[in-house]
Amino acid sequence: MPAAIPVVEAHGARIPVIGLGTMTLKENICVQAVSDALRLGYTHLDTAAFYGNEREVGEGLRASGVKREGVFICTKVRQNDLMPDDFARVVDQSLENLKLPFVELLLIHWNNKDIPLKLSVGALCKAKRDGKTKHIGVANFTTAMLDEAMTVTSEPLVNNQIEVHPFIDQSKVIAACKKHGLTVTAYCPIARGKAPGNDVLERIGKAHGKSSAQVSLRYLVQLGIAAIPRTATPAHLKANIEIFDFKLADAEMADIKKLGAANMRVVNPPHAPVWDS
Ligand SMILES: NC(=O)c1ccc[n+]([C@@H]2O[C@H](COP(=O)([O-])OP(=O)(O)OC[C@H]3O[C@@H](n4cnc5c(N)ncnc54)[C@H](OP(=O)(O)O)[C@@H]3O)[C@@H](O)[C@H]2O)c1
Repeated sequence: MPAAIPVVEAHGARIPVIGLGTMTLKENICVQAVSDALRLGYTHLDTAAFYGNEREVGEGLRASGVKREGVFICTKVRQNDLMPDDFARVVDQSLENLKLPFVELLLIHWNNKDIPLKLSVGALCKAKRDGKTKHIGVANFTTAMLDEAMTVTSEPLVNNQIEVHPFIDQSKVIAACKKHGLTVTAYCPIARGKAPGNDVLERIGKAHGKSSAQVSLRYLVQLGIAAIPRTATPAHLKANIEIFDFKLADAEMADIKKLGAANMRVVNPPHAPVWDS
């Protein structure tokens, strides 16, 4: 049996610090990756209505033979479905796709500036009250959006899923999440494959017998946040959970933090927030 993956906690939510990101994984590749990951010891899956693969994620879960109770599943409602009626309809569709009565975590995928947070967060809270999700949270929320969300939510928000990796400094948003009692999940945790090849990460990895991708994930975990690397490559699936048998020294953490000065975002859609606001 692989060792249990540690968790970050908020308001009763226990979020495994490594999950499988599934964006771009489709059809049998997705089913196989999810099933392989769970058999390897993953306990956290990240999907979204927008990824178009909730059916495959559900199928992979069932194919793995792993008990449903041991798996933390997150899905998300996209920004054009945030009006309350649309919201309720697409959440039902997501659950139907997954063939599950509820998920562990439901997120607003991106804020929609044309829909007041009072409405979108209200719909998110209703999904929780209706038993469609155990916990709720947001994604791509800036400090200003978080401040506002806290004033309108009637249920605890447990998580903000944002882009975090060694090449972007998200310390302000991470601090705001902490202040408001939310955990953070890092998406693009290995910078969409750009961590491998970085000199600093390579050097630190070499000292520990680990790869740059593993150093990147370990860095995030030592910051106290969860990470959801995406891969369907069996060796990478295995490597991405082999990060609990080494520890980065303070000086190594500081060297990696300096890379964040580059503020290199790897996700930049037109509706992306300005992180410092
Ligand atoms: N909330 C949001 O708005 C949002 C936005 C973007 C992403 N996400 C979530 O975050 C997840 C991860 O982000 P991402 O997929 O964009 O980027 P990522 O996980 O940072 O990078 C994925 C890339 O890294 C490579 N990789 C994975 N493990 C590796 C390893 N051990 N060694 C070397 N290369 C490795 C993969 O290649 P191989 O396939 O060859 O392994 C792939 O090319 C997504 O799948 C999605 O679930 C959320």
